[in-house]
Amino acid sequence: MDDTPNDTAAERGTGWRERITPGRFDGRTVIVTGAGSGIGRATASRILREGGRVIAADVSGDRLDAFTTEFATEAGSAALVTVAADITDAAGVERIVTAAGPRIDGLANVAGIVDDDSPAHEISDEVWQRVFAVNVDGTFRLIRAVVPSMLDAGAGSIVNVASEAALRGSTAGIAYTASKHAVVGITRSCAFMYGPQGLRVNAVAPGAVATGIARIGTPSEFGQRRIRDFLPLIPSIAQAEQLAASITFLLSDDGVNVNGAVLPSDGGWAVQ
Ligand SMILES: NC(=O)c1ccc[n+]([C@@H]2O[C@H](COP(=O)([O-])OP(=O)(O)OC[C@H]3O[C@@H](n4cnc5c(N)ncnc54)[C@H](O)[C@@H]3O)[C@@H](O)[C@H]2O)c1
Repeated sequence: MDDTPNDTAAERGTGWRERITPGRFDGRTVIVTGAGSGIGRATASRILREGGRVIAADVSGDRLDAFTTEFATEAGSAALVTVAADITDAAGVERIVTAAGPRIDGLANVAGIVDDDSPAHEISDEVWQRVFAVNVDGTFRLIRAVVPSMLDAGAGSIVNVASEAALRGSTAGIAYTASKHAVVGITRSCAFMYGPQGLRVNAVAPGAVATGIARIGTPSEFGQRRIRDFLPLIPSIAQAEQLAASITFLLSDDGVNVNGAVLPSDGGWAVQ
């Protein structure tokens, strides 16, 4: 396995280099949703390069094919299993978990979508329901599906991707903001319930990240006018690999003793 630093992020001018820890995920099977793009892709890539077996799930089969082309050879074909599935679909979740097999060591719930910045008086049922279906229901369903295997093993690590929108009201519309607050609630409930059985459940709250995240609906002028003034406060735009560093820290045994945490990975935005 190549353990040289990945200087992709450094080349983009952040001054930071991804340095993999060889073998950190040896013998581990980890499900990563949203693995076709952005933060999920960077997370799946890092786990593969650190020795893990990755079940890479995404609604986009094309994106997964591109990921396979780039990483399967390097990691070995047995280490990467792709599943094209919609996490809002019960059958899709079942296919993801079946592909993982009986022992599931980790779950990174990364797949998510952004709303249209609508405030309460403008939001449509359609946008509200779709955002909750992906960000909340999908996240919860994957957890429900993997926990029995983790309880059997007496171990397991789950990392849910929340957002700065889980920490404040000024970054998105009501649907996305409420959905990411719900992700924190799911994280804390599971951390509390399963901690004594050896499971760790944490969340990472990214600030702004350079990805092509999908926005649904028509942007709300009212919402965007209100949010606009607060955008200059964002301290930095992170690369997906920087978020993968936070997520894999919590997923791996390096996160031992951390359970129920909501880790802002946002260049310090949360302290403003
Ligand atoms: N990019 C940011 O600035 C930012 C900030 C805060 C939080 N986040 C969160 O990070 C996570 C990842 O976002 P990203 O920026 O990498 O976005 P991205 O769009 O680059 O990647 C998300 C992936 O999830 C997949 N996906 C979407 N809906 C799905 C579904 N129903 N079933 C399966 N896969 C689905 C998409 O196809 C895509 O490949 C999201 O939960 C997002 O809310 C992103």
